[in-house]
Amino acid sequence: MGKASVLIYIAVAVLLLLLVSHSPKKPSHHRYRRLKLRSNFSPDKHSSHHHHEPVPFDPLVADIERKREDKQWEKKMYFEQAHKELEEAPAAESQPEWEDFMNAEDYLNDEDKFNVTGRLVLLFPKIDVDPADGYATENELTDWILKNSEREVMHRTQREMELHDKNRDGFVSFSEYEPPSWVRNADNTSFGYEMGWWKEEHFNASDADGDGLLNITEFNDFQHPADSKNPKLLQWLCQEEIRNYDEESHNPSHESDDSTEAPARKLFAELDKDGDGYLSDVELLPVIGKLHPSERYYAKQQADYIISQADADKDGRLTLREMIDSPYVFYSAIFNEDDESDYEYHDEFR
Ligand SMILES: *[C@@H]1O[C@H](CO)[C@@H](O)[C@H](O)[C@H]1NC(C)=O
Ligand SMILES: *[C@@H]1O[C@H](CO)[C@@H](O)[C@H](O)[C@H]1NC(C)=O
Ligand SMILES: *[C@@H]1O[C@H](CO)[C@@H](O)[C@H](O)[C@H]1NC(C)=O
Ligand SMILES: *[C@@H]1O[C@H](CO)[C@@H](O)[C@H](O)[C@H]1NC(C)=O
Repeated sequence: MGKASVLIYIAVAVLLLLLVSHSPKKPSHHRYRRLKLRSNFSPDKHSSHHHHEPVPFDPLVADIERKREDKQWEKKMYFEQAHKELEEAPAAESQPEWEDFMNAEDYLNDEDKFNVTGRLVLLFPKIDVDPADGYATENELTDWILKNSEREVMHRTQREMELHDKNRDGFVSFSEYEPPSWVRNADNTSFGYEMGWWKEEHFNASDADGDGLLNITEFNDFQHPADSKNPKLLQWLCQEEIRNYDEESHNPSHESDDSTEAPARKLFAELDKDGDGYLSDVELLPVIGKLHPSERYYAKQQADYIISQADADKDGRLTLREMIDSPYVFYSAIFNEDDESDYEYHDEFR
């Protein structure tokens, strides 16, 4: 092969590469995307603190998802009761309810029944409240998402409560409480144990009125201490944080590596107001929300994502028009940012 033909080969290859990488993405893909519901429900997952899923933007969608979850939950509870002796559930049991699931999705994708534009027109004035000026700002969107997520969190707590409130009196006592399976199964070096999560001290701190029982509000705080307004519980969270820090700093395997610990040192110095080399829980209180992301933190993240996707004129806020023009940001996209990743999973149901 001559030098020239090799050069031509290379040129053609490069050209092809360029063509492939620059070919416009199928533009109409967007319009025909199917609205989706989340399908990977698992009752334990949401209390694991390792994972945080976006919440549905539209309360109606949230409602549909909740009803489906409830069904799966009831099935699971029934199954566990009926088959306590059986160690391993048959695989079929862990499958989502495809039939309900598909009916709900068909409903969402039937424009006559579920009109996305109509929904956004209806929701907009509920979001744009502070002030009602025709723009949905980051704060307004964050508040909106936070409200939705608090509803979802409370719903899950009610479910958890059913699980733990063995005598069905509407309260959970410490003796009734059993740590969730992810804590029981974990070895005690894992997150939950280190944090002293699920211990009596944590329980007592959640018990705002000190009657030895957690009602639903207190039980919700118990499960989500970073979102609590109960000062006793926040204090406990800070104390755990300090205990953790002290253990790590006295652990020889954590001997200083200045490059990575410098930011931590700096933060420490800033927080250690009285400069005694120790952080008191009072000194930690202002940053506890950063160490333990709250629902508000995630809601803000989700709001920022929504704005980044739908804000056509880049003024940092959304008009109704901009929302209507990017409906999938508010519906399927927030459940499923990467459309392709679960393609094979749903493919047979398309
Ligand atoms: C959906 O709602 C919008 C606004 O309310 C309306 O203009 C449109 O015709 C509706 N589409 C259908 C299919 O009903
Ligand atoms: C940690 O695990 C060991 C053995 O698995 C057990 O003996 C010990 O009691 C556990 N510690 C706590 C605090 O649960
Ligand atoms: C929690 O409170 C109960 C009284 O309600 C008390 O008996 C128990 O010792 C407390 N436990 C801890 C770890 O503080
Ligand atoms: C639960 O108890 C707390 C006081 O500890 C109270 O403020 C709250 O309203 C109670 N929640 C319910 C649902 O009764």
